[in-house]
Amino acid sequence: MTIASSPSTPSMLLRKKLIAGNWKMNKTSADAVSLVKEIVTVVGKEHDVEIVVCPPFTALESVARALEGTAIKLGAQNMHTEPAGAYTGEISAAMLRALFTSYVILGHSERRTFFKESDALINQKVLAALKSQLKPIVCVGETLQERESGATLKVVQTQVEHGLQGVSKELATSVVIAYEPVWAIGTGRVATTEQAQEVHAFIRSLLSKLFGEPVAQKIRILYGGSMKPANAPELLAQKDIDGGLIGGASLEARSFVDLVKAAAATK
Ligand code: PGA
Repeated sequence: MTIASSPSTPSMLLRKKLIAGNWKMNKTSADAVSLVKEIVTVVGKEHDVEIVVCPPFTALESVARALEGTAIKLGAQNMHTEPAGAYTGEISAAMLRALFTSYVILGHSERRTFFKESDALINQKVLAALKSQLKPIVCVGETLQERESGATLKVVQTQVEHGLQGVSKELATSVVIAYEPVWAIGTGRVATTEQAQEVHAFIRSLLSKLFGEPVAQKIRILYGGSMKPANAPELLAQKDIDGGLIGGASLEARSFVDLVKAAAATK
């Protein structure tokens, strides 16, 4: 079946829902393997939703082994711009690829805040990831102060446009955007479905300007920020919300699996 990307094509035909777990600086290698084994038992053969787990670097290899033969994909939480060299403490895209990593989270708000990552640096990382066949999950989102001053769309626009500068139309469909309002991350304060859908639709309109409407219709835009099994169904039912980037609720098999099921139920 050929899927035409007309606005009338149901989004689920163009974009498979994606649930990604961002484990942040949690789990030793052994803890990571036990968690992933529990997840595999329940949703290891799930093909209707794409599932990605992003453990810390030190657990990538052991988790990759535990994921062998399953449908679950591996992601990293960051990477360096250069392929190799004198960058003490850093990890390259090639190193991630060698561990069967498919995705990499880039520009997470914690990296922007604590490690002073700029849009220009994030853009270099996005280009380096794509060059190595890694799919970047590019995080964007406004702070509380920016939202309250009415700057949300402007902030998100700058982050999207600068972050994706120089990405070709051909590679753009490998990019995933994660809209994560900073005030909702780890706070238990989730964006309303209206707030989230408004920004997601705005991001898709930006992607359409950058890459054309057919490409924009194929790019997944995830919501992130206190997503839990209780609030996920409503968020995931929105037209432009194609999945979730999950922090806290990805650290327990039960809640992560329930989020995958919520995504499967919205097909
Ligand atoms: P949270 O984190 O689900 O704990 O709010 C989301 C994220 O930081 O990606």
